[in-house]
Amino acid sequence: MWLTLLATCLVLGGGACVLIRDPKNLPCDDYDLFDPVRRVITEPWTLRTDADYEYLAQQAVHQSNARSNSLYKSMLVRLKSRAKTSDGDIRLTVLQLESKCRNDGKFVSSLAHCPLRENGLFHECELTVSAPTKADAKIKLRGQSCVKTDAELVLGYTSGLPSLVATQLFQSSATPSFAGFQVPLLEHFRCFALRYGKTYDNDEERALRFRQFQNNMKLAYLLQATEQGSGVYGPTQFSDLHPVEFRKLSTGLDTRRKGSPLKAGRIPDMDLEDLPVAFDWRDKNAVTPVKDQGQCGSCWAFSTTGNVEGQWAIKKGKLVSLSEQELVDCDKLDQGCGGGLPSNAYKEIIRLGGMESEGSYPYDGSDDKCSFQKPEASVYINDSISISTNETEIAMWLAQNGPISIGINANAMMLYMGGVSHPWKIVCNPKSLDHGVLIVGYGVATDAKKNPYWIVKNSWGPHWGVKGYYLVYRGDGTCGLNLMCTSAVIA
Ligand SMILES: *[C@@H]1O[C@H](CO)[C@@H](O)[C@H](O)[C@H]1NC(C)=O
Ligand SMILES: *[C@@H]1O[C@H](CO)[C@@H](O)[C@H](O)[C@H]1NC(C)=O
Repeated sequence: MWLTLLATCLVLGGGACVLIRDPKNLPCDDYDLFDPVRRVITEPWTLRTDADYEYLAQQAVHQSNARSNSLYKSMLVRLKSRAKTSDGDIRLTVLQLESKCRNDGKFVSSLAHCPLRENGLFHECELTVSAPTKADAKIKLRGQSCVKTDAELVLGYTSGLPSLVATQLFQSSATPSFAGFQVPLLEHFRCFALRYGKTYDNDEERALRFRQFQNNMKLAYLLQATEQGSGVYGPTQFSDLHPVEFRKLSTGLDTRRKGSPLKAGRIPDMDLEDLPVAFDWRDKNAVTPVKDQGQCGSCWAFSTTGNVEGQWAIKKGKLVSLSEQELVDCDKLDQGCGGGLPSNAYKEIIRLGGMESEGSYPYDGSDDKCSFQKPEASVYINDSISISTNETEIAMWLAQNGPISIGINANAMMLYMGGVSHPWKIVCNPKSLDHGVLIVGYGVATDAKKNPYWIVKNSWGPHWGVKGYYLVYRGDGTCGLNLMCTSAVIA
């Protein structure tokens, strides 16, 4: 999918390399966040646009890396300001951050290629460089002074609490820009709209969606720049939505209200050595095909049915696809398409007297009048439990008992395309759970990074993520996935 585009390389005096491509000749392809091409430089000695200065700042940081004995390359995150000095030099105020790339002397401009270290050193620096001239395009770093700063400041927010970074970035339509980010062009947006069958009512709507697409790609770039696993982010079916709109239409875990309290389930008495290294309930006929909640905040219903389907299949030996619509219409503790909680849904299934199958009470993705008929119920549940927040114990319970309903922060899921997703806590606050999904298994990646992961069944159709599934890092409470683990009990 990530088609490498033809580009030529211009070597500047400093040994740096700029890829040149005429944006008019872009082939109709997915927008590629990993593509470092971001502008056309014709005369390296003329500094006109902000992008020219940003490139100058990247070269200055590159030269400063060459002088440093740090093990890791520092990367420009943002050029804060620039000024001419009295003797004709240029003073750049930059925010830079230690990356995961070794300080090997190679110039890298894209944060997607050198992701930042979560606990790396954050600096605000003043770099003074000679102005490039036609006779000498090579710039010289004349001086630098740096002070340590923190991640939030570098990423764009100074409000204090770590949670605010995630909240503000993922709820606004104006994400600050990050160095090396290639702003998608109208051409890219046309390809995106074509690919996902998007149609817009009028030019105004189209223009709005284009701006939203550009902003979302900036968020994807931020996720990529801070990715700790092997997650890949970019355009998805949600990339023209405002993050708040996305949450309303495609998630629906309602944590504003307190859910029904559940008693604690029993964690199997198991030696750690006896825990399988990988486990997948899909191989054991306990998981139905991936469903699609559509434009309705009913994730909580899908998370619940997924769990009950698994429990019924394991206890009764029959895999039955169950009705989310029954919960959307008949569950009085929850708000249908307006959101809900699995802990309430279990109680309501017991009150109603069971669940109809998908076939007898089909999903239409809108709030309707309840038409549940008890004689039509194909399954029942007797009770519900909460499971541990300890991921080892969650794995033990899962391997012995079945898929688990969980809550998660969906920030990274909105733009997830594959790999084992492992976002920083400040871009995926574990305390802001907004989406209900289902853990169906776990494993360890076979690539060099060997990331342990959970296999998470989502309800955004089979074309999202990895065939409808999310692979997310296992072991450090990524995106809060361990904080709301529950299950129905069938006696
Ligand atoms: C579980 O619930 C079903 C349906 O309500 C009921 O028939 C059954 O007796 C219950 N089992 C136990 C052990 O309570
Ligand atoms: C998590 O649970 C496992 C198994 O019960 C235990 O060995 C481990 O110490 C627990 N970890 C924490 C942080 O409590």
